[in-house]
Amino acid sequence: MVTESRLVAFRLLMLVHEGAYANIKLPQLLQKSNMSKQDRGFAQELGYGTLRMQIQYDALIKEVTDISKLEPVVLNILRMGLHELINMRTENHAAVDQAVELCKQEAPKASGLVNACMRKLSSNALQLLEKLTSGENKVIEFAHPKWIIDALSASREMDSAGDVETLLAENNKSPKPQMVALPPNQIPEGAQPLGLSNIGFESIDGLDLAHFRYQDQGSQLVTQIAASAAKDGNWLDMCAGPGGKASLLAAIANQRSTSITAIELYPKRADLVKDGLKTFPNAEVFPADALKFDYDKDYQLVLIDAPCTGLGALRRKPESRHNKKPDQIQNLNQIQKELLEKAATITADEGIIAYVTCSPLIEETTSIARWFIDNHPEFKILPWRDYAELDANKARSTLQLWSDRDNADCMFLALFQKQ
Ligand SMILES: C[S@@+](CC[C@H](N)C(=O)[O-])C[C@H]1O[C@@H](n2cnc3c(N)ncnc32)[C@H](O)[C@@H]1O
Repeated sequence: MVTESRLVAFRLLMLVHEGAYANIKLPQLLQKSNMSKQDRGFAQELGYGTLRMQIQYDALIKEVTDISKLEPVVLNILRMGLHELINMRTENHAAVDQAVELCKQEAPKASGLVNACMRKLSSNALQLLEKLTSGENKVIEFAHPKWIIDALSASREMDSAGDVETLLAENNKSPKPQMVALPPNQIPEGAQPLGLSNIGFESIDGLDLAHFRYQDQGSQLVTQIAASAAKDGNWLDMCAGPGGKASLLAAIANQRSTSITAIELYPKRADLVKDGLKTFPNAEVFPADALKFDYDKDYQLVLIDAPCTGLGALRRKPESRHNKKPDQIQNLNQIQKELLEKAATITADEGIIAYVTCSPLIEETTSIARWFIDNHPEFKILPWRDYAELDANKARSTLQLWSDRDNADCMFLALFQKQ
């Protein structure tokens, strides 16, 4: 019999194949099951790990069969089997048996083929991998598409942040969930504090989510820097959904007699923002297009957490590396520039625009910041280092975080002040 945790991982892979997001589907699948905490962890590692390492596993499968003839169901069973063989503690015979059993259930005609492939792979997957990566083939070794490796390398080099390999390896790991204590709440006693945010800690079960939220410490840090740089008054979050940064901004603003307006284009995501901000009397949320919204005031802080490729969050979004394509960047750049243009018109004198992405790609970060400053002489760039002490490139005015160095998503932050 196939174990439930493997079935859940398999269903996840098939849903992602049909276009779903793993981080949305997995909690739904887990909710429907009665598995133990350990089995849930196994399902997540098997599903997420297989998605992360897919490029490498496909290269190995090509060595033992004609991959172009495989149905997605069969291909995903083999990928999962390989993940168990190479990267989990499953005994080889159990990995083979479970792949064959799963195939008998989901695609019975292919079970002979799966049996043959899994047997070959179980005896020499590591030797095959050594052969495939002997010419320093980073695409197969680190299971990232070439265009992403090139783009990340360029950004690492520009930031003097060291070799890209350690980042690629980090992207293949499961990060421990992190939480934030919304001010004025303190980090709970006994919690493990995080390095970048003095209100962040490694997640613990059972906390009241009115006071403590799941949030990557990179997001916490850029939000805290933006709030520190801004004067009290009216603050605006132009791209608020699902509401992580807006909640932290609202909690900080609430301590400072400051109000916050949060805007989100998609109504369902705006509902999530409303839910996150419902306990804050100083916050209002609008489901609207931030480019067309009828603003009736100027803002001391405009946060633009811009739509971007999200390639700084590859650890937490395992399928992103397959779904994102370089030709999407031009459209995203257009939206990023339009949001900045709009923000420039509604920022108060001496007010701040905080431009944030969860991508480290130069085209979405430094190039956009340069374009904005070149086109808006009424703004000057404010160096991040005036607001935070951390081990990032201090020669740069903009901030780039790195998952391997900072144990955070690769967030980018540029602060612009209206003069
Ligand atoms: C990177 S996400 C923001 C994440 C959010 N700040 C958080 O911390 O949870 C970008 C968001 O901008 C929204 N968005 C994109 N274009 C927009 C527009 N023109 N007006 C308002 N929201 C927009 C997207 O729907 C998406 O939810």
